[in-house]
Amino acid sequence: MVDINDAAAIKNLDTMSMHAALEGLPAQCANAYDIGQKAPLPRIEETRAVLVTGLGGSAIGGDLLRVYCQERAGIPVVVNRDYNLPAFADENTLVFAVSYSGNTEETLHAYRLARVKGCRVVALSSGGKLAAWASEEGVPVIPIPSGLAPRAATGYLFLPMLAALERLRLLDGIDGAVSEMVAVLRAQTDSYRPEVPSDINPAKQLALEFRDRIPVIWGASGTTEVVALRWKGQVNENAKAPAYCNSFPELNHNEIVGFEQPGELLNRLWIVLLKDKGDDPRVAYRMQVTNKIITGKVAGVTEVASAGESILARLYSLIYLGDWASFYLAALYGIDPGPVRVIDYLKGELAKKQI
Ligand code: F6R
Repeated sequence: MVDINDAAAIKNLDTMSMHAALEGLPAQCANAYDIGQKAPLPRIEETRAVLVTGLGGSAIGGDLLRVYCQERAGIPVVVNRDYNLPAFADENTLVFAVSYSGNTEETLHAYRLARVKGCRVVALSSGGKLAAWASEEGVPVIPIPSGLAPRAATGYLFLPMLAALERLRLLDGIDGAVSEMVAVLRAQTDSYRPEVPSDINPAKQLALEFRDRIPVIWGASGTTEVVALRWKGQVNENAKAPAYCNSFPELNHNEIVGFEQPGELLNRLWIVLLKDKGDDPRVAYRMQVTNKIITGKVAGVTEVASAGESILARLYSLIYLGDWASFYLAALYGIDPGPVRVIDYLKGELAKKQI
């Protein structure tokens, strides 16, 4: 275990400089949007759907795009975390094949299928086979800088797609929203960085609440659900600890019933309610009532609210808090947040066998 008020000790544990990547996220986002402005794009007569295919840290940007487009673009955005593609994918489908490493087998397989089906494909990657194959085949590649853990590259794995949709006239008004988001993230960095002590650092406070407990993160369908999934993944990958997520209103129809027993396990859960000013008032009220139902049955409940004006800033402000909290949770467990040896092992084992 590391004292989370000892910035030097935290950084010492962090062999992949995840803290530097976190501090660099605002600049990464600004840069990522610029990359998207200049990136090559495919020619497409009429875009009827957007499909983002990727896994893990390379898929969450697709979820952000889906949520962003839900009320703002006239076409569906579908996220595909699989080897195969949905049947609707055709020459009117814009496919972003996203893999930070460029070597994730599911994404490579889905890329191949998208090419066979005649989809309009763009590769978003820092290199690997995906970038190599796409370049050889004349498929546009949006090149992003290498050297980060994929989950530390969410700006690069999301904003170029947003910029691309703006350039294809499927969205508008992105520019101002990105600037605001970067400003909000910069302000948050000043409160969340390792030098800021836990009594005034909300990310460290959350990590202390999560320690020796299982975080359960609840967001709202269509918006903060993506943040809940991100927090879960970040606790898993950074702190190497379990976490679970769900969304309102669905969880009110099943999960909420399961808070009666066993008491000693319920007492190990820490619930987070993600709140956003864009929440449907009926959903906001559900959160209030739900909080009352579970308070006293679980170890604790924390409500966190998004910051900023645009939906982009609001969602990212919550993502950033969870990223930092999971980073500090790793420190509390004395774990190096960077390496994800189990994922590396699985990828290695799968690569050995042709199925
Ligand atoms: C590791 C991480 C993983 C990877 C996933 C897919 O930091 O976040 O979830 O993103 O294993 O790999 P890539 O992103 O290289 O396609």
